[in-house]
Amino acid sequence: MIIVKSSQEIELMRQAGHIVAKTLRELARAVKPGITTIQLDTLARRYIEKLQARPAFLGYQGYPASICASLNDEVVHGIPSLRRLKTGDIISIDVGVFYKGYYGDAAATFAVGEVSPLAARLLEVTRESLYKGIEKAFPGNHLYDISAAIQAYAESQGFSVVRNYVGHGIGSEMHEEPQVPNFGLPGKGPVLEAGMVLAIEPMVNAGTWEVETLGDNWTVVTRDRSLSAHFEHTVAILQDGPKILTSC
Ligand code: MF3
Ligand code: CO
Repeated sequence: MIIVKSSQEIELMRQAGHIVAKTLRELARAVKPGITTIQLDTLARRYIEKLQARPAFLGYQGYPASICASLNDEVVHGIPSLRRLKTGDIISIDVGVFYKGYYGDAAATFAVGEVSPLAARLLEVTRESLYKGIEKAFPGNHLYDISAAIQAYAESQGFSVVRNYVGHGIGSEMHEEPQVPNFGLPGKGPVLEAGMVLAIEPMVNAGTWEVETLGDNWTVVTRDRSLSAHFEHTVAILQDGPKILTSC
């Protein structure tokens, strides 16, 4: 069952989303050659706690950190470590918080210094594919209208969308129904209603869509080790259309 939220609940989710967005903005400022991903994690945890929220990923199914930091061919769930960012890297950072009973979840991929034209285009296309999906988040549309819009745009630009990981409903739980795939057929899936809140999160690869999980049992990488990017927003479906809750 897809939970429909009241306007009061959506207001609290906007507050949680605001904290997520501000944390990502701080992280964006800190992303520079030489910084380690664990330093980014510490920065995020302290900032989230300063804003009276809790990092949602810390301890989730045993996850050991507050953010996911996925470098280059890593798709999602990269564990912060002592590795240092270097010029030319791309880094996907995923942030989730719990605040006043509700979750917010967002991600973005950043360029470290100057990156290859391919990496720059992958970032741009993945971000744009998220917005193509969000544009379909209207009451009366079908869920897979969102999925299909993301897939069509990413593939039209010569990239592939990950199949094994998907977006999700979000609210008083981090993962609620429905699953929100980044591929599918328009006109299919549940009918969207005002009050539904979705975390829409395309993961787009430069090469194959296939992925595998490393030996740490968390880090997901592209099977062909091609670059991957990830953008995510928590989006409320309102009567008059989508409202991005993870914004500053
Ligand atoms: N943002 C991720 C998601 O939407 C959550 C990261 S998984 C965790 O599923 F284990 F790190 F929390
Ligand atoms: Co998510």
